[in-house]
Amino acid sequence: MNVGKTQEMVYEMKVSAVMTRDVITIGSKERMSRLRSLLQGNRISGVPVLEKGQLVGLISIEDFIKWLANDQEDCAIEERMTREVTTIYEDDPLVLAIRKFESTSLGRFPVITRDQKTLVGILTKGDVIEGLLKKLEIDYQEQEARHFPARYLFDNIEADDTSLQLRYNVKGQDFTQAGDSSTRLKRTLRRLGLRSDLVRRIAIASYEAEMNLVIYTEGGRIRAEVEPARVFVEIEDSGPGIADLEKALEPGYSTAPEWVREMGFGAGMGLVNMKKSADEFIIESEPGRGTTLNVSFRINEEPHEVN
Ligand SMILES: Nc1ncnc2c1ncn2[C@@H]1O[C@H](COP(=O)(O)OP(=O)(O)O)[C@@H](O)[C@H]1O
Ligand SMILES: [Mg+2]
Repeated sequence: MNVGKTQEMVYEMKVSAVMTRDVITIGSKERMSRLRSLLQGNRISGVPVLEKGQLVGLISIEDFIKWLANDQEDCAIEERMTREVTTIYEDDPLVLAIRKFESTSLGRFPVITRDQKTLVGILTKGDVIEGLLKKLEIDYQEQEARHFPARYLFDNIEADDTSLQLRYNVKGQDFTQAGDSSTRLKRTLRRLGLRSDLVRRIAIASYEAEMNLVIYTEGGRIRAEVEPARVFVEIEDSGPGIADLEKALEPGYSTAPEWVREMGFGAGMGLVNMKKSADEFIIESEPGRGTTLNVSFRINEEPHEVN
């Protein structure tokens, strides 16, 4: 990534695009002793102080430490806060915020509207970096898609019928590689130029299916077939199979063992989410023989709403 790109971004992007909107504040009449839990509990280093909804100051961890080091006698926030608050407007370009961070060496700026001067957010260097990274990622994905248009791939093939097959092997009971196959499938589909919302839906379904292979089976296979008008994904394993399919499809039903749940899996929403994200969903299973899932997705021009 060259410097030019980041520079362009900080000129084009506004403070409002990267600021944190849920601002934690404190009232000017509240007690100093409340500050510790507020800062610690939210992992922040300073909060704007409000009086009747108006921004009147800022109190930071530095102010708190000073108070601790001196008298420690409890008092109102307003007695210890900084009254000259350096604010920034929500529609200021990011470059201005970055310069302000450099010239003031302050850690945060309350963000206010230009006309009413009301508090609408707070900006830290962390917000700026995170916002820039997110924007870079989005731009990169869009660029990647432009480089590999799927249309182009199929338009150059002269045949009555064509498709591209992608096959992945998934190891059972092996959490070190869990998710790799669906990640590789997702990357490939993105490079082929499929719409990002479609890729996301396919990625959700294949990730859930892959996790089920890892958790419940000895392993299996994922096969994706890309056709000009649809993507078809088949996930199969050879056991143990599902005894009660109806139950397995119920939201919240899970047979995941405790140690799997501790890793954050086993909410019983995998099959439900697969069904929701696909245009067609067929599951077949026989105890002792295995499970096969067929999910397909239409390649539409219009985005599909997942809800
Ligand atoms: N490939 C599979 N082989 C055997 N059992 C499965 C398979 N996929 C799902 N199941 C069963 O169906 C249940 C529901 O699956 P799912 O909706 O993905 O939720 P979760 O994985 O969170 O339990 C699982 O708890 C498991 O009992
Ligand atoms: Mg699951």
